Amino acid sequence: MTSTVRGSQLARLLGHWHALPGRRRNPDYAALAGAIRGLLADGRLPLGVRLAAERELAEALKVSRTTVTAAYRELRESGHLTSRRGAGSWTTLPGGHKVASSGLWTPQDDLDMIDLGCAALAAPPELMPAAAAAAQSLHRYVSGAGYHPTGIIELREAVARGYADRGLPTSPDQIMVTSGTQHALDLVLRLMTPPGAPVLLESPTYPNALAALSARRARIATHGLDNDEGWDADLLLDGLRQTRPRLAYLIPEFQNPTGHLMPAVLRERVVAAAHAAGTDLVIDESFVDLPLDGTEVPPPVACYDRHSRVVSIGGMSKPYWGGLRIGWVRASAPLVQRLAALRVGVDMASPVLDQLVAVHLLARAATIVPARRRQLADQRDALVAAVRRELPEWGIRVPRGGVTLWAELDGPVSSALSRAAEEVGVRLAPGPRFGVDGTLERFVRLPFTLPASDLEDAVKRLAAVRYDLDHTRRPQWREHTILT
Ligand SMILES: Cc1ncc(COP(=O)(O)O)c(C=O)c1O
Repeated sequence: MTSTVRGSQLARLLGHWHALPGRRRNPDYAALAGAIRGLLADGRLPLGVRLAAERELAEALKVSRTTVTAAYRELRESGHLTSRRGAGSWTTLPGGHKVASSGLWTPQDDLDMIDLGCAALAAPPELMPAAAAAAQSLHRYVSGAGYHPTGIIELREAVARGYADRGLPTSPDQIMVTSGTQHALDLVLRLMTPPGAPVLLESPTYPNALAALSARRARIATHGLDNDEGWDADLLLDGLRQTRPRLAYLIPEFQNPTGHLMPAVLRERVVAAAHAAGTDLVIDESFVDLPLDGTEVPPPVACYDRHSRVVSIGGMSKPYWGGLRIGWVRASAPLVQRLAALRVGVDMASPVLDQLVAVHLLARAATIVPARRRQLADQRDALVAAVRRELPEWGIRVPRGGVTLWAELDGPVSSALSRAAEEVGVRLAPGPRFGVDGTLERFVRLPFTLPASDLEDAVKRLAAVRYDLDHTRRPQWREHTILT
């Protein structure tokens, strides 16, 4: 399922390639090769895609064909392109490296560490009263066996009401409660992606989704998000048409890690293109409750679905608390039944007591969620101010929701920076963790889920180690550009 990046698309991605630094010293072909390498390094151009033929790209860029031929030759020599006569040229990495996702992306209990690796809030004050109320209401269930593979009815009703409030009529039969959103994703993948199936993902994306997909041995194709603009409608829809993946996994609300919000028009077009390509869409709505600054969230992607192509997943972890381990799937009622049958072979059902805690928290959503948003907006503002003050050469786009900021560094040093940061007590999620192929070294994810004082302290320490990286004169990042 090799997809092709057309000349006009590559030209758009390249933008002002000829104005890159060093242009005066470099001939055109070298500048063009350098710009294509840059797109690969940033994950904007996926690995394993076929590049436009030389003549087509030359026309799109309004340069001579000789320039493109020489640029492609240089990319072949540096290992960034592989060509076969008559079949075209594919993007690659030097040495044929690939990154395996370790899947180990979990917070660690080191109390001295400022953990910016984990993008989740501590529990809200309402958790303890909700837990006490849940214990009080447990008596309603104790006369039964306690196994509810699709979830207890009162939680399914509450979740279904949440969808209806967002403009998507939903019956409780369309909801299955899971032990977290990650569990929901894993179950959906087990049911819908046979081993080795082609799957389309955003790049960057949520690392544990990558882990779930590699467990299914999925063949992954990526759509590179632009740091400023988010999804490129033309490339995304073309990717669906060309690769016809079995499934596409997207995070349209305040995407983890970039914070982008997918506009309504693109939601509608993605659903139509997915249907035409025979692709099922798994829509991860983990952050949908967390718009900031009064940002309006477009209708759920499933609103545009007339062919049961869309499976939505979500959960309690981001607006409420990850320790609850409560998530859900919204799908057609027959699909929910098939998921429940599959789930019985995995974990039978989710704990009744935890589901009751979720019911009590959801009943207080109107108080809890606005407070979480205010807290996140304040913490985000503190983080943004600290980065602008301490690390002014980093590029940041202020997200309008969610819990993460995707910072563009001043060099391809993300892995080296993360390793150095650990030594001064800051745990970071380096850029390559969010991609499939060892790229994204110029980015780092900074969550704003910790108190402002911790975030400010962490950024000061990061600024100090960033300075040290430049002054040790050791090319540390080179050793870690490729994770294996
Ligand atoms: C996009 C996304 N999906 C799923 C999850 C996992 O959520 P849960 O704790 O509900 O399993 C996360 C947590 O960070 C996430 O960011």
